[in-house]
Amino acid sequence: MRLVLLSDVHANLPALDAVLADIARRAPDTPVYHLGDLVGYAPWPNEVVDRLRAAGIPGVAGNYDSTTATGYKHCGCRYEDPRQEALSHLSYAWTLAHTSEASKRWLGTLPFRLDVRPMGGHLGSPTVILVHGNPMINTFYWTEDRGDDFNVKMARQAGAKPGDVIAFGHTHKPWHRTVEGTHFVNTGSVGRPKDGDWRAGYVILETSGTAGAVLGVEFVRVEYDVERAMAAIRESDLPDEFADYLRTGGAG
Ligand SMILES: [Fe+2]
Repeated sequence: MRLVLLSDVHANLPALDAVLADIARRAPDTPVYHLGDLVGYAPWPNEVVDRLRAAGIPGVAGNYDSTTATGYKHCGCRYEDPRQEALSHLSYAWTLAHTSEASKRWLGTLPFRLDVRPMGGHLGSPTVILVHGNPMINTFYWTEDRGDDFNVKMARQAGAKPGDVIAFGHTHKPWHRTVEGTHFVNTGSVGRPKDGDWRAGYVILETSGTAGAVLGVEFVRVEYDVERAMAAIRESDLPDEFADYLRTGGAG
């Protein structure tokens, strides 16, 4: 059994289209789920929503989705300095102004968490728990440097058992760890990676056909038309810095 997980598209339509084409080639007829943050930072919020709706890809609400849907005072993002904070507010204001009412309504229907049983619900495991940030809130940055104790605490909060998977995004940096038998998978980002690799990222999760054990977590990276995304950002009223950010994968 395989599952495809993708997260943090952030309104980057060329990146999403490249990932969907790659999935169709490498993992056809495989269930696909998104882990939120469909909008923000790039100029295609409605087109990204429409693509996922048309493809019937279910998923959970990222902080950018739930704040945009509810018109919250900010996007629930973290800033490192005043310049980043100013850029973040510009992105959020642009997204609020350009996301259609229909898209906002749909973003508002996304659940906080989804539990998937690749083996079917009549078997106890494994459960793949999908959230955006952590099992309590979608604004939490669950980074790779958290200690084992923290991961065990998250598993307990989520009700995860050994063999289960908790998958999440939000930090835009992919990683996988196993602590006390529970798998923790950060799926990285389709449309705004921050790990220094500009290519769009997603995950193929493989579980065995009988025992339900997790066999593999493959981090896939896909080249896409980043120049098109950069040009569209520059042509929009979004800050040009967001275009440069895409080219460097957040490293510049
Ligand atoms: Fe995000």
